[in-house]
Amino acid sequence: MERPAWAPEGVDMTQASPARMYDALLGGSHNFEVDRQAAEMAKKLVPDLPRVALSNRAFLRRAVRFLVDSGVRQFLDIGSGIPTAGNVHEIAQELDPQCRVLYADIDPVAVTHARTILSGNDRADAFEADLRKPADLLERAKATGLIDVDQPVGVLLVAVLHLVADEERPGELVSALHDAVPPGSFVAISHLTSATRPEDAAKLGNNAAQQNKIGIHFRSRPDITAFFDAWTLVEPGVVELPQWRPESDRDQHETPGRSLGLAGVGRKD
Ligand SMILES: C[S@@+](CC[C@H](N)C(=O)[O-])C[C@H]1O[C@@H](n2cnc3c(N)ncnc32)[C@H](O)[C@@H]1O
Repeated sequence: MERPAWAPEGVDMTQASPARMYDALLGGSHNFEVDRQAAEMAKKLVPDLPRVALSNRAFLRRAVRFLVDSGVRQFLDIGSGIPTAGNVHEIAQELDPQCRVLYADIDPVAVTHARTILSGNDRADAFEADLRKPADLLERAKATGLIDVDQPVGVLLVAVLHLVADEERPGELVSALHDAVPPGSFVAISHLTSATRPEDAAKLGNNAAQQNKIGIHFRSRPDITAFFDAWTLVEPGVVELPQWRPESDRDQHETPGRSLGLAGVGRKD
């Protein structure tokens, strides 16, 4: 199996990764056979899964626009994924070209591809980092010079916390980020949930663990809401993905009451 030019050296092409599986679900081209097979298998179990991914991307776009409208001009996008249409820097810089965006991801394919796309954009960058080591991530984010922690930051944790196990204390990671940013900052979170379709959630979670050795943690509504404990939730609170400040019918990829994701935005007062 030959390594494609976009894949960084040393990447394991025999093991599916969440970033590349998600890219495959969205119809992207930065994934390997093993990722496509994993995505196909997941789609067999839950055929509308690509709609969940689209719905999540639509939430991300609306949340970024909301944050820019709320005065945020710098974004730290953690678990940013493999760039696809409608990336955070495109949305934010279209509204205000002064917006700065720093992408962080644990997956080297995601970071390499982001850097390629961002070359020539001196207000956006990407680096490899682990959300589970927030002190290190924040230190390195500051060192890039793109994020000024004396100014409000838009922290994006979009479809990433469900990849962190309970034992890794995801709530404490969100709290550490809260403590690191000044008042006026926001966090946007989306998360796969067991609240709406528990059977589908269980099927996908078990399949990911058994077939791909990937831990996906579908959480309950109270568990997801608890991530905002230190923040002030903005309206409409924690809701299904398509219900968070919908803008147009084109955003409505999932049937109301059946979204596999919940989302919310919190402000630091
Ligand atoms: C489902 S994708 C979401 C991508 C993007 N945020 C979106 O919503 O479209 C999840 C991303 O989180 C990344 N990720 C998983 N665990 C992580 C960790 N501990 N630290 C940083 N990134 C992580 C994966 O590599 C993947 O790119």
